[in-house]
Amino acid sequence: MKKIGVLTGGGDCPGLNAVIRAVTQTAIKKYGYEVIGYKFGYRGLYLNDFEALTLDRVAGTLPEGGTILFSSNKDNLFNYYIEEEDVYRDVSDIAVENLNKENVDALVVIGGDGTLTSARDFARKGINVIGVPKTIDNDLPETDITFGFNSAYNVVSEALGRLRTTAKSHHRVMILEVMGRHTGWIALAGGIAGSASAIIIPEIEYDINKVVEVIEKREYRGKLFTLIVVAEGAKAVDGIISVKKKVTDSPDSIRLGGAGEKIASELEKLLPEKEIRCTVLGHLQRGGDTSPFDRILSTRYGVGAIDYIHKKKFGNMVCIKKNELTYASLEDVIGRGKTGETQKGGSKTVNLNDEMVRTARSIEICLGD
Ligand code: F6P
Repeated sequence: MKKIGVLTGGGDCPGLNAVIRAVTQTAIKKYGYEVIGYKFGYRGLYLNDFEALTLDRVAGTLPEGGTILFSSNKDNLFNYYIEEEDVYRDVSDIAVENLNKENVDALVVIGGDGTLTSARDFARKGINVIGVPKTIDNDLPETDITFGFNSAYNVVSEALGRLRTTAKSHHRVMILEVMGRHTGWIALAGGIAGSASAIIIPEIEYDINKVVEVIEKREYRGKLFTLIVVAEGAKAVDGIISVKKKVTDSPDSIRLGGAGEKIASELEKLLPEKEIRCTVLGHLQRGGDTSPFDRILSTRYGVGAIDYIHKKKFGNMVCIKKNELTYASLEDVIGRGKTGETQKGGSKTVNLNDEMVRTARSIEICLGD
């Protein structure tokens, strides 16, 4: 009987529990394997802190956001902070020893680019790893879609519905700042679904005058309110992004924020007679229940992870290509940098020839250019 270890790393995301549940159920029911879950991502692997994942333990967790295994976006075992000595050290060998001690045959690593960078590095150390692509940002290469993305843009769409009624009542311009890091997937999908008139994404440097034109055109047609979605990574033509703070002990140290307020104040100057308001959706996009779409996608990923373990397809990430479940090498997902490097193969940005972009333009949604 095989023993499978599972961990969730990085920021939480709707669908994590659905993957854990599908991994556990498939491992136990289909193959008769045993499953253990490491707590707080890689930290659990280092501290050998885990719990048994049984059918009872995962029962009822399908819709629940967050992760029953907890998560951390700070614990990179290839460059781990040892508090007592105030130094960073490569402690990955201790994790390997712990896996051997517990007789873990294969590890399912559920995470985004930072977590999967370490998964690639553990695969290089000979650990039997399968990655699962998690992120609301949808920015991982080698897969058409990550789980969590659909749940996040559903929240954006719902928020726009709420902003619409208040914007309409006061004849206001309402800006909604959304997550997505340096990509505009959430903004674009949520903005189209929520009927925004302008969607500002990092992939297109925006000209504020184009946004003014949209508002004025709408006013001319008697539409005295406007909804605008701004991705947190939005850049004006000067190429400058809005950074809220730096988190030095996180592999991705930049926390974005302020892009929506920046556009609001630019618009206030150009349209002094209009009332402009900005709402930052923030972590509401990551919390709450997992959408039905993501419950299905996460279940497919969890089942696929165990099927590929059974077929010994190690060193890969499960992925979706043209709506088919398949796998791609972690080396291609992350890039072929040195072990321990957090530098990625590049994130999957919105392609300006993408059909979604053309769709938005066809119905005259302004993309800031
Ligand atoms: O990567 C997911 C994400 O939610 C991004 O969209 C956002 O920029 C970032 O994480 C926020 O990170 P934190 O939860 O550490 O503030």
